Amino acid sequence: MAIGWINPNDYSFDSFLFLERFQIRLMMNSGGWFKDKPEWQRNMGIALNANPVIKEYMKKRCPECANTIDEISANAPAPADKAEIRSAEVCVLASVEDFVIYTTPWIITEKCDFIYGWDKQRLFDLVELTDKTVLDVGAGTGRLAFAAAEKAAWVYASEPVGTLREFMRDKIANEGIKNIRILDGFVTDLPFPDNTFDVVMSGHVVGDDYGSEVAELTRVCKPDGWLIDCPGDEKHDSRLDKRAVENGWEAIHYIGSFGKDVYCYRKRVKK
Ligand SMILES: C[S@@+](CC[C@H](N)C(=O)[O-])C[C@H]1O[C@@H](n2cnc3c(N)ncnc32)[C@H](O)[C@@H]1O
Repeated sequence: MAIGWINPNDYSFDSFLFLERFQIRLMMNSGGWFKDKPEWQRNMGIALNANPVIKEYMKKRCPECANTIDEISANAPAPADKAEIRSAEVCVLASVEDFVIYTTPWIITEKCDFIYGWDKQRLFDLVELTDKTVLDVGAGTGRLAFAAAEKAAWVYASEPVGTLREFMRDKIANEGIKNIRILDGFVTDLPFPDNTFDVVMSGHVVGDDYGSEVAELTRVCKPDGWLIDCPGDEKHDSRLDKRAVENGWEAIHYIGSFGKDVYCYRKRVKK
């Protein structure tokens, strides 16, 4: 399934030199967004054999995938020509277009509908942020964090991708923002003590490991604080997340800027 954020032809396979360990692991284990895994492995093998520096980088960066990488490489056919190599590279780049666009964070706002179509008033309508201590989990380029910082006392933005952390840090420096701090961190393993934040928010992050993720968000939130899931407006309809509602989250629906359904969620933390 293509997300449509990038044209993979615009990117060099060298983009993979920016991949984080967890991204290499996810990609090697799943084949990215690609449906036909043998076909993806064939293309990945051709691309890796044509780019030995990247192959070595990926093995060293993610040692738990080294054997898989070697197997995929050994099983790949010899490409007929340079065009077949480039076609294999483009197939693999397209299979992880979210990881690829994170290597060029400065174009994300322009390319991603959930950012350029979104109005920060949607966040302000969901939760009171004035003078609060707020965490944005999986902050990306800081859509939620920079909005929250207009009202909150402090905003902490945790993000596991280094290029995105640097993008946010540069923006903070360039704009002279004093109340945002950027950290590494996974939604299932946040680098904060229990009961730290008045508001713990995220957007387009929670879902893969729902129970563990919500437990960790709850852990770092103060009693009577708020958990917020605030996705941006997209060009396709969002569906109501029944699992969230069953788990006590309030769903708030609106018609987004592209005329499609958008659902946000909030939950008061009781401990
Ligand atoms: C689609 S982006 C959304 C970014 C931002 N929350 C927003 O709505 O603008 C998803 C973000 O989640 C981050 N991410 C991916 N896996 C994660 C994990 N296990 N824990 C925390 N963040 C994660 C990605 O690096 C990326 O920044």
